[in-house]
Amino acid sequence: MFDSLTYRKRREALRKKMSSGIILILGNNEAPANYPDNTYKYRQDSSFLYFFGHAHPGYAGILDIEAGEDYFFGDDVTMDDIIWMGPQPAVKDLAAQVGIEKSFPFAKLKEMVSKAIAQRRKVHFLPPYRYDNMLLLEDLTGIRASMTKQHASVELIKAVVSLRSVKEPCEIAEIDKACNIGYEMHTAAMRLCKPGVTEQYIAGILDGIASSYGSMVSFATILTQNGQTLHNHDHSHILKEGRLMLTDAGAESVTNYCSDHTRTIPVGGKFTERQKDVYNIVLACHDHALELAHPGVTYKSVHLKVCKVLAQGLKDLGLMKGNIDDAVTAGAHALFMPHGLGHMMGIDVHDMEDLGQCYVGYDNEVRPSDQFGLASLRMGRRLQEGFVITDEPGCYFIPALIDKWRAEKMHTDFLNYDAIDKFKDFGGIRLEDDILITSNGSRFTGDRHIPITIEEVEKIMNE
Ligand code: GLY
Ligand code: MN
Repeated sequence: MFDSLTYRKRREALRKKMSSGIILILGNNEAPANYPDNTYKYRQDSSFLYFFGHAHPGYAGILDIEAGEDYFFGDDVTMDDIIWMGPQPAVKDLAAQVGIEKSFPFAKLKEMVSKAIAQRRKVHFLPPYRYDNMLLLEDLTGIRASMTKQHASVELIKAVVSLRSVKEPCEIAEIDKACNIGYEMHTAAMRLCKPGVTEQYIAGILDGIASSYGSMVSFATILTQNGQTLHNHDHSHILKEGRLMLTDAGAESVTNYCSDHTRTIPVGGKFTERQKDVYNIVLACHDHALELAHPGVTYKSVHLKVCKVLAQGLKDLGLMKGNIDDAVTAGAHALFMPHGLGHMMGIDVHDMEDLGQCYVGYDNEVRPSDQFGLASLRMGRRLQEGFVITDEPGCYFIPALIDKWRAEKMHTDFLNYDAIDKFKDFGGIRLEDDILITSNGSRFTGDRHIPITIEEVEKIMNE
C-alpha cells in the first residue's frame, strides 16, 4: 500500500472530475473454486485498490461528490474469524490507513445508496464483471443484475480512466518491481528450455517465481511450442530440438502492479537460419515501436508503421509482394499478425479492460477499427507522459487461417501463398516489452532488459 495521502489525493481528483451524486466503488469478494471455503487466490478489484488501497475481501467505498466526503464499508471480524484467520485490523483503522475518517458496517451501504436514490441523486458505479457484485448492485440499486453493466456510469468510467492512465512515480516504481520479477521468470525459462523438458514443468517454475517474489502471475502463463496459437495455455507437450518455445508471462508486485513480457527462443539453444530470418523481422518491429513511442503520437500510428516493417520484412523473404503501404492499408499483413501492437498496463495487465476498451484505448479522436487485425488493437489513442504500454509485435503462421484465406483468395495481390504454405510448420514468434512514456520518448520498465537479440538469447541458453 502507498501512504494515506496518495489515496486521499486520488479520491479528491476523482470527485473534481465528476458533476454530482455519489460514486460507489465495490471491492471484490472471495471466489470459490470447487466449494465455498476453497477459494481461488484472492484478487482485489483494481479501481478499489487505486482509490481505497486495501486488498481484502468484503469492502466497498463511497465518494460523495457534493459533500466532499469519503466513506469506507466493511465488517469487523468475529471471534470465529480470529480463531481461523488470526487477529485482523478493525475496519476504522483500515479506513484511517487510506485517509478516511468515516467507516461503517457493510449493511450501512444499502442505507446510504437507498437514501441517495430517494433524493434523486445519481449513483455512479463502474461496470461489474463478477456475478456476485452484479447481484449486490441489484440489491443496492434495484437495477436487474443482468442489466447492471449497461447502467454503469460513462462519466465515472471516463474520469477513472483519465486518472489511472497516467502512472504516478510510486506506481512506476511498482511496475519496475513487477518487471524485475518478469526478468527472473523469463531468464529461468531460457535456462530450462531443453529438449525433453515439458512445457508444464517450465510454466510451473515460472508461476512459482512470480509468487515467490511478489503476489502471483499477472495472467495465466502462455508457454508453448505452438506459438502460432496466440493465447495458448496448453502446456502438455515435451520440448523438441528445432522447435521454438514462446513464453508470454508476467508477475504482479506485492501491491498488484503488473508486468507482461514475451520471448520466443529455440529449444536446444540455437536458432535455425529460417527462424533467425523471421525473428529478426519481429525484433525490428519491436525496436521500431520503441523508437516511435513518445508523447503526442497515436499508438495506432505506431502500430501501423510497425506493421509496415513486418510487411517489408516478409516481402524481402518472399512471403508478401506488391506495395507495402497498400498491403498494410488493406490489412493483408494481418494474416501474420492478427493482433494489436499493445495495450495499457498498470494494476491490471490489460489495464482497465473491465472499463471498456473504447474508453481506455480510444477516444473521440482515435476510434476503434473493425478491420481484421487492427480491430484487435487494444490501445490506439495519443500517448502521454506517464502511460505504460506494451510493445508486442508478432509473426505467426496459423495453418487454418492460411488455408481459409487461400481458399477465399484473400489479398492475392500481396500474399505469396505458395511460399507461405512452406511455413505452416513454423509456429509463431512474439517479442514483448513494457514501456513507459517519458517526457521526450520512452523507456523499458524494469532494471534489466530480458535477453532479446539472437546473440543474447543464444548466450544465456548455452551458459
Ligand atoms: N500477455 C498477454 C496479452 O497481452 O494478451
Ligand atoms: Mn501483453
